Order: sequence, then structure tokens, then C-alpha cells
Amino acid sequence: MDAPATTPFSTLIRTASHEQHTQAENSSFMSDMLGGRLGVDAYRRYTEQLWFVYRALEGGPSAAALAADPVAGPFIRPELARTAELERDLTHLGGPGWRTALRPLPATEAYAARVAECARDWPAGYVAHHYTRYLGDLSGGQIIRGTAEKTWGFTRKGDGVRFYVFEAIGNPAAFKREYRELLDALPVDDLEKQRVIDECKRAFALNTAVFQELGREFPLSA
Ligand code: HEM
Repeated sequence: MDAPATTPFSTLIRTASHEQHTQAENSSFMSDMLGGRLGVDAYRRYTEQLWFVYRALEGGPSAAALAADPVAGPFIRPELARTAELERDLTHLGGPGWRTALRPLPATEAYAARVAECARDWPAGYVAHHYTRYLGDLSGGQIIRGTAEKTWGFTRKGDGVRFYVFEAIGNPAAFKREYRELLDALPVDDLEKQRVIDECKRAFALNTAVFQELGREFPLSA
């Protein structure tokens, strides 16, 4: 049965992606990493994949047009930007030459390509990717940070985990509330909203595919 038209869009998109969220959370790579069963090399490889994704989200030729776009523009906030933090973490994890010979996993390449495509051609689809990453980073990302600090000995909120630290967001709960209000006010019709929900599901699937490839690269040596 269709949800009533009065259900806020932020609720619809969260509910629609709930099952896939559980899947992503429970992927063997995530479970092994958060269970402290993998080395810091796995964490580094994971962080490298994120760099490719955030470069597509934040950089590239479409960034200026997106910032001015009536649909995607309001979501793009400088305090969310993660590329610089990822680069600091990767310098810490891999040294100044971390970029040399860095290649995305095939699943990461596909994920970043889809984000770039939405950024270029479909601002509402870009919002689906924006939501899937940044709201997740502001939520479960904090659990990942705590575990990473404990498991691999990073300084609390320091180099290695800066990606998870939103220095310019003093009150994440309030920020998320405002973000959901933006989602609820998304200036598109119901059909387009359904397409955004479908794209969010695709974003979760793209993340899960990256976890699967990471899991193959770092099988548990039990
Ligand atoms: C082990 C890994 C993960 C953990 C422990 C985790 C945990 C959480 C928690 C506790 C929340 C709820 C926060 C709240 O209600 O305010 C949340 C929300 C969220 N997570 Fe995750 N998460 C994980 C992985 C992921 C992944 C891989 C993605 C997608 C790339 C993701 C995307 C999201 C999104 C979009 C939300 C916001 C849902 C909403 O309120 O609309 N999470 N996560």
C-alpha cells in the first residue's frame, strides 16, 4: 500500500532504505572492521575508496552549477565537505605519496561514476547520493570513528579519523533536523521524489558492492 501523501519525504527515504542500511551495516567487511578483526591496511584501503567517492560528490566540473541549482544547491554546505579531511587522513595512513599508484576498486569506480553522472545531469539524483553519504557520516560514522580510534590507536578526533569529525557542525542533531527539513521541502513532484528514493537505494547498493570487493581483498584470516 502506498504511504499517505502526508508522510514527510525524509521519513519516506529513510524507511525505503532501512533494509539496505541493515545489509550495509552487517556486511562482513564492516562487521570485521568494526569488530577489530582487520588491520589498519584494510581501514586505509576503505578510506582510499571514500576519497574517490567524495571527489565525485564535492569536486569536478559540476560543483559550481550544483551549488547554484534550486534542487541540489541548498544541500551543499561547506561544513559538510570531506575531501580535505580525507586527504589529511590518507597522508597520515599512507605518507605524503599516498596518491601515487592509487586505483579505485571496480565497484568504487562504478559508484564514483554514477555520482558524477548525477552531479552533471540530474541534481535531484545527486541529492539522493548526498543524503546517503553525509547523513550516514553524521550518524553511524561516529560509531566507526570511535572503533577506529580504539582499534588502530588514532588520536581522538585526530589524523586518521578526521573524515568523521565535522569541526564546523556544533550540533549534529540540530543539523540533521534541518537537513531533513530540506528533504521535506524538496521542490520536485511525487514522481520525481520516487525516482530520488530509487536512486538512494541504488546508492546503498553501490556502497554494499564496495564492501563486497573490500571483503574479498581482506578476507578474515580466522
Ligand atoms: C557499520 C556501519 C554503520 C553503522 C554502525 C551505522 C549506524 C547508523 C545509525 C545508528 C544511524 C541512526 C542515526 C539517527 O537516527 O540519527 C544511521 C543513520 C544513517 N546511516 Fe548508517 N550506519 C552504518 C553504515 C552506513 C552506510 C554504509 C551507509 C550508506 C552509505 C549509511 C547511511 C546512513 C544514512 C543515510 C542514515 C540517516 C538515516 C535517516 O535518518 O534518514 N550508514 N546509521
